[in-house]
Amino acid sequence: MTRALVTGGAGFLGRRLSTRLLEEGYEVVVLDNLSSPSPLGSPAGAEFVEGTVVDPPDLPGPFDRIYHLASPASPPRYLQDPIGTLRTGAEGTRSMLELAEAHEARFLLASTSEVYGDPTEHPQREEYTGSVQVTSTRACYDEAKRYAEALTYAFRRQGRVLDTRVARIFNTYGPGMAPDDGRVVSNFVNQALAGQPLTIYGDGSQTRSFCYLDDLIDGIWQLSNSDVVDPVNLGNPEEMSMKELATTIAEEIADTGIDYLPLPESDPSRRRPDISRAQQRLGWEPQVGLAEGLPPTIAYFRSLIDG
Ligand SMILES: NC(=O)c1ccc[n+]([C@@H]2O[C@H](COP(=O)([O-])OP(=O)(O)OC[C@H]3O[C@@H](n4cnc5c(N)ncnc54)[C@H](O)[C@@H]3O)[C@@H](O)[C@H]2O)c1
Repeated sequence: MTRALVTGGAGFLGRRLSTRLLEEGYEVVVLDNLSSPSPLGSPAGAEFVEGTVVDPPDLPGPFDRIYHLASPASPPRYLQDPIGTLRTGAEGTRSMLELAEAHEARFLLASTSEVYGDPTEHPQREEYTGSVQVTSTRACYDEAKRYAEALTYAFRRQGRVLDTRVARIFNTYGPGMAPDDGRVVSNFVNQALAGQPLTIYGDGSQTRSFCYLDDLIDGIWQLSNSDVVDPVNLGNPEEMSMKELATTIAEEIADTGIDYLPLPESDPSRRRPDISRAQQRLGWEPQVGLAEGLPPTIAYFRSLIDG
């Protein structure tokens, strides 16, 4: 039996990834400090250990694979504790790489499109070195992930963890997200369901590209089974402005109007993955567009309200 550790496994993506690993025949251990768990709870069938990756408790190995997802992931969460976010990316990633070294495990890092900052290149290819403003409030997250990537490649170069993978994840949504996690899809859907106006920061012309949960988990699974050690963008290239997203959600739920608020500092103006590498080297591309992915997501948020 193969055995995997999923850090952040009680969260939105980690929970679904753990379920997938269990379906694929893995034994799964989840390490999570429950700072931002999914409302659906820790994945059934996985062994749950509460604790932080920064100073991890004893973990029931051996491990063949470590999927390292633990991190504050949405702006309200990481802006609440910038030092903790940097420590999670730096010290937490180091401790998980050391664990991978001890177990000779394959290590996959959940990185992010935020390593590209407010991009001057569009769409973003993995070769793009990014444009992060190091003094900005968002830098605690962006730089933590950039450091985590650099550390992963350093462990590899020094021969300490030979089997590494790096997924650069772009905005992902779907059932299992926390309604209050502060990301735009959950914000808009929950505001519309509550009959409140949708909050748009700036003029709503900034774009994002939204990937459905199941597609993303397929991408992580395929990347972790591949021999691709270069970073790989995983996301859906279907790009839309925040205004278009608001209109789509109003059509799906109800037109509750829009409140415009000032744009936060360093908010990326455009974001769309170039997924050629994932297409060519993993044979992966997303299958679910927003039109198919929104209804189950809305139904999920509605079920949380209805109890
Ligand atoms: N969902 C996205 O759109 C997206 C995009 C880019 C990158 N990512 C990355 O994917 C990973 C998972 O994100 P998510 O969307 O599931 O977020 P999430 O907040 O739902 O899950 C993160 C999980 O990590 C746990 N956690 C946080 N700090 C921890 C620590 N120090 N020790 C142990 N556990 C800790 C939280 O309790 C939570 O369960 C994160 O690393 C995030 O940066 C997500």
